[in-house]
Amino acid sequence: MTVLFPREKKYMDKIVIKGGGRLEGEVEISGAKNAALPIMAAMILTTGKNKLDGVPQVRDVTTMLHLLNGLGGCTEEFNAGRIFFDATGINNFEAPYELVSTMRASCLVLGPLLARLGRAKVSLPGGCAIGARPLDLHIRGLEGMGAKIRLVQGYIYGEAKRLRGVRYYFDTVTVTGTANLIMAATLADGETVLENVAKEPEVVFLADVLNQSGAKIKGHGTDLVTIQGVQSLKPINCNIFPDRIETGTYMIASAITRGDVKITNCIPKQVESLTLKLRQSGLIVEEGETSLRVIYDGQLNGVNIKTQPHPGFATDLQAQFMALMTLAQGKSIVLETVFENRFMHVAELKRMGADITIQGRTAVVSGVKELSGAPLMATDLRASASLVLAALAAKGESVISRIYHIDRGYSDIEQKLYRLGAKIFRKK
Ligand code: EPZ
Repeated sequence: MTVLFPREKKYMDKIVIKGGGRLEGEVEISGAKNAALPIMAAMILTTGKNKLDGVPQVRDVTTMLHLLNGLGGCTEEFNAGRIFFDATGINNFEAPYELVSTMRASCLVLGPLLARLGRAKVSLPGGCAIGARPLDLHIRGLEGMGAKIRLVQGYIYGEAKRLRGVRYYFDTVTVTGTANLIMAATLADGETVLENVAKEPEVVFLADVLNQSGAKIKGHGTDLVTIQGVQSLKPINCNIFPDRIETGTYMIASAITRGDVKITNCIPKQVESLTLKLRQSGLIVEEGETSLRVIYDGQLNGVNIKTQPHPGFATDLQAQFMALMTLAQGKSIVLETVFENRFMHVAELKRMGADITIQGRTAVVSGVKELSGAPLMATDLRASASLVLAALAAKGESVISRIYHIDRGYSDIEQKLYRLGAKIFRKK
């Protein structure tokens, strides 16, 4: 069968934005990248044909498919948001450095490979633009399940004849750590109890989808998850839910351009912490069942945010919200508690005229009257989104380079913004 991958976007592409206009209209949200990636890793636990719908056409998804194909699986189709993937042939246990270094979420295959093949060799991802991001909590949990783990020449080598249930407490709430251990435990011998787990919608969804395939997981969405190991799982058949970070990014796009944008195909409950902050800042936010409308109502005031695990304010929306606060009336304080180094966008925002000072994990933003367009460089996925937002509001032209970061997680961003009235194009 033909394997259809979406066109790989070129590394040298730039986004050009002539800012200052108001965004208006409707934008439809794509499937959630961070929900799709763990579900794709979970396909390793199955034999047979998996079917995923609503998958976003972003580069991290193609990277994960390359990884899964390299493990011996077969992508029969990836087109128009649908993946058909046959996991029957998975027999290779190596996730190579070339792929893991471009996408940290590749570490999600560690637990499933150990559970299915009893062996895994997964490159350590190393630090990244937002912090050191170790995998120690994933590794300790798997060791607790009986895996023998060695770190050799930049790779994690794991072995376990059959993983066994464990009671494990996460010292820090970790999203992919929770996902990795839940996946490993589904095929382990006996019961696993995980404490202080992540409650992100993506983790809850993973557990629900695994249960539909025959897993026995309880308590997801609370601090304590219990998994009763089973012998095998049926192939996955699911529909990925809409991306809450993309939703939040377009909500802020409406706010920062003093616009009136309706965001469709979204789950308002998942972005409640942002909605509250936007309302506090003076915006009107109307909630429908699967839509949100953000309307500028003549004021934008500085408000404070503190990033926290779900349901707190998402760290993945911190950079975008900070871009908004650069144009707010008065001061706002942004406290980043999840990652130790997630302020890479600040230097670029300052080059556009923003007034921001950083002290450790705190940024103090004093609102300015206007930002000015500038040549800008994207450093990571969400920092890139914040630069796009700032550029939409700025006077004059901005040219954002290294936008391969944005292509990792935002589906068709320039077309979606163009349809809302932005003067934006991609320069090849
Ligand atoms: C997930 O990353 C997301 N990625 C991130 O989204 C998101 O920013 C993050 O969760 C927090 O919400 C995916 O879902 C694919 P963590 P993850 O483990 O799981 C520390 C985006 O832009 N930690 O929850 O890697 C870690 O250093 C991306 O889409 C350990 O100390 O994040 C951090 O300080 C970026 N040891 C904190 O926990 C560990 O073993 C939370 O990180 C694991 C994590």
